[in-house]
Amino acid sequence: MSTSSPIDRQARRAPHVAIIMDGNGRWAARRGLPRTEGHTEGEENLARVVRAAVTRDIGWLTVFGFSTENWVRPRAEVRHILGLHEKLFSRIAELNENNVRIRWIGRPFDSPEARTPKYVQRAIRRALHETESNTGMVLTVAFDYGGRAELMAAVRGTRRAGSAITAAAIDQHLYLPDLPPVDLMIRTSGEHRVSNFLLWQSAGAKIHFTDTPWPDFDATELDAALALLA
Ligand code: FPP
Repeated sequence: MSTSSPIDRQARRAPHVAIIMDGNGRWAARRGLPRTEGHTEGEENLARVVRAAVTRDIGWLTVFGFSTENWVRPRAEVRHILGLHEKLFSRIAELNENNVRIRWIGRPFDSPEARTPKYVQRAIRRALHETESNTGMVLTVAFDYGGRAELMAAVRGTRRAGSAITAAAIDQHLYLPDLPPVDLMIRTSGEHRVSNFLLWQSAGAKIHFTDTPWPDFDATELDAALALLA
């Protein structure tokens, strides 16, 4: 296919980078630590990568924090990851210092299948509100997110609106209709799968796989991935 397809043409703006942050558990196991320590380090690393991303030409950074499939993990691990999301969405001063607007993508809180607990909802709402006037990079955190669930919701929304099922109509009924197409998808820790992340939005994305586990993914790794867009 030529590089001037409509999807590619839309991409001529500060790029949208999406990251599947895999490998926290293996990072911890290699050090003889509990998996939860790997997730804690993963959250710290996300804060570092956000700082690196704002100094590069990245307009949109979307990260997979917790999927619709992740709820089956052991309860203690799920609780720990929920706490880390509360922590991440509470980094408001840091986001404001970096002019970063934080957003969330996932199953709407009022939908019957949604599972986001109230305390995480509160942290999300507050962070969205308190960073909404920032004009720099947009950081979108996917929580209780699945690409197939999003697509089904978009088709239902399109039908409810009485519109024909066209690509433009589905675009308008995605969870975040203004989220631009993904230019670069990164997955850490050696797995070569897309795992139900941003299925619609990443139709034209380049994909960078690295063996590095997420807690060790640094600015040098980010630059290596961004080289794919050069
Ligand atoms: C993958 O590691 C990571 C997750 C399923 C959760 C993502 C969570 C973080 C990166 C930490 C917190 C981040 C936020 C956004 C608050 P894994 O457990 O699948 O690792 P493994 O494949 O080595 O077992």
